[in-house]
Amino acid sequence: MRSDLTRRAALALALALPALPAGAQEAAGQKPLRIGIIGAGKIGGTIGALWVKAGHEVMFSSRHPEELTGLVEGLGARAKAGTPAEAVRFGEAVFVAVPYKAYPQLRADLGEALKGRIVLDAGNATQARDGDLYTEAQANGIGTTSAKYLAGARLVRAFNAANYRLFEANANRPAPRMAVPIAGDDEAALEMGRRLVSEAGFDPVVVGTLTDADRFAMGSPGFGHVLGASELRAKLGLAP
Ligand SMILES: NC(=O)c1ccc[n+]([C@@H]2O[C@H](COP(=O)([O-])OP(=O)(O)OC[C@H]3O[C@@H](n4cnc5c(N)ncnc54)[C@H](OP(=O)(O)O)[C@@H]3O)[C@@H](O)[C@H]2O)c1
Repeated sequence: MRSDLTRRAALALALALPALPAGAQEAAGQKPLRIGIIGAGKIGGTIGALWVKAGHEVMFSSRHPEELTGLVEGLGARAKAGTPAEAVRFGEAVFVAVPYKAYPQLRADLGEALKGRIVLDAGNATQARDGDLYTEAQANGIGTTSAKYLAGARLVRAFNAANYRLFEANANRPAPRMAVPIAGDDEAALEMGRRLVSEAGFDPVVVGTLTDADRFAMGSPGFGHVLGASELRAKLGLAP
């Protein structure tokens, strides 16, 4: 199976982490969320597993959902498998974690369903993998390009700026927690982004609007750091 290895890696991560008891979200004063994951590969599987551990209900999706059985069984009752369309319907928030070259297909398949939805967008464009989409993102900015293909979604760029192995290794580490830059135009969506970054085990750093997402895009000076929030803010030239 194509991504069986990464799905097993996500599972291993999930099993290695202590689970929050059921109801832990309520105890913290917040209702658990329903989160839909589009693209249960390396980054979708890793971050989704962290949200399950935090007490949320997560639907992992695939165009071949039967391949996700092992992953969701290992994660327990709060994890489910479905198709991408089912995951969009399921989620109060949707996490998009597919190769950037798939965004035109995503627009064709899910564009209508994503309108008005809060979407955390992990996609990065790379020249070798994404071809024309890379060229477009370089020319127009990554946030603007995502907003074009996911038009009408309430987008937050999140979990773009590091490899999934760094997220896996640093989630919920002792203070200072690893900072995760995020950016978006919609204040309520950004608030959801802050919450979901925090509950995955990191400190959110709001860098600005979607246009500012280039400041932590792949290949930019803001990419690839494992820093606490104040150090990352300094690196990005943000106010302390
Ligand atoms: N890997 C990282 O460390 C990392 C870190 C930050 C950001 N990112 C970015 O996150 C995105 C995903 O990267 P990844 O490494 O997690 O990729 P991956 O392991 O290859 O997983 C991508 C998933 O996307 C799904 N997919 C592909 N085309 C699709 C389509 N048209 N519709 C719906 N689902 C589709 C595939 O699921 P099915 O084939 O099962 O449907 C696949 O499991 C990329 O844009 C990448 O640049 C990656």
